[in-house]
Amino acid sequence: MARKLIVGNWKMNGSLAMNAELLEGIKAGLARVDCDLAICAPFPYLAQCQQALEGTGVALGAEDVSAHAVGAYTGQVSTRMLLDFDCKYVIVGHSERREYCNESDELVANKVQRALAGGLTPIVCVGESLKEKDAGQTEAVVSRQINTVLSVLEEREVCDIVVAYEPVWAIGTGKTPTPEMVKDVHALLRELMIRKNPDAAECVRILYGGSMKPSNAEEFLKMRDIDGGLIGGAALKASDFLKIAYLASR
Ligand code: 13P
Repeated sequence: MARKLIVGNWKMNGSLAMNAELLEGIKAGLARVDCDLAICAPFPYLAQCQQALEGTGVALGAEDVSAHAVGAYTGQVSTRMLLDFDCKYVIVGHSERREYCNESDELVANKVQRALAGGLTPIVCVGESLKEKDAGQTEAVVSRQINTVLSVLEEREVCDIVVAYEPVWAIGTGKTPTPEMVKDVHALLRELMIRKNPDAAECVRILYGGSMKPSNAEEFLKMRDIDGGLIGGAALKASDFLKIAYLASR
């Protein structure tokens, strides 16, 4: 994949005023960006982001989506609703949802299916916890997570997803795996996708996420197997988010 993808995941942060400043700051630095850029924002702010990002080339995404199409699911948000705000992406299976909302591999797979059926590009998150890493289970965990998603996809649909490898122990901690460790996990994920669809060698972007910031982004982004980043904390500061985007633009 020649062109890298940098995605900001705002998580449960922001306010109308804070977002306005952040969005203006990002827009002011876009001229030098030569990678794909997206912002995944909390549902209440999608309208604000849609308006601010119109015509900028920065894509919009949500942080979650319902596995259901429509109906009596209080508090849930459908793909249709996200399309009303020109969302292109939706994060599915983030470890914070797996952990705090008890999302199972099967539910994540259903959400991926629903996102694809609704015309959205799911950013499918996988990654091991610290306990799993220390027990040497990284490969087994990410394989189980991605295989459950692949098991519900048609062969052609494999090319319509983005995958993000986010080791849970690296999220918000300042700790990161080495680029070599990430490269190995990405190679495994790609191999599993290739088994389902040989085109996955080229068509699927695999992002790294977990404490990526301007000071360490280059070592990850220069690796051939790392097709971009899913950025949490550093996406909340325009200058940091832009610096990562510039590093991905080389
Ligand atoms: P941090 O960049 O804050 O570690 O968060 C990563 C993440 O979870 C993105 O989805």
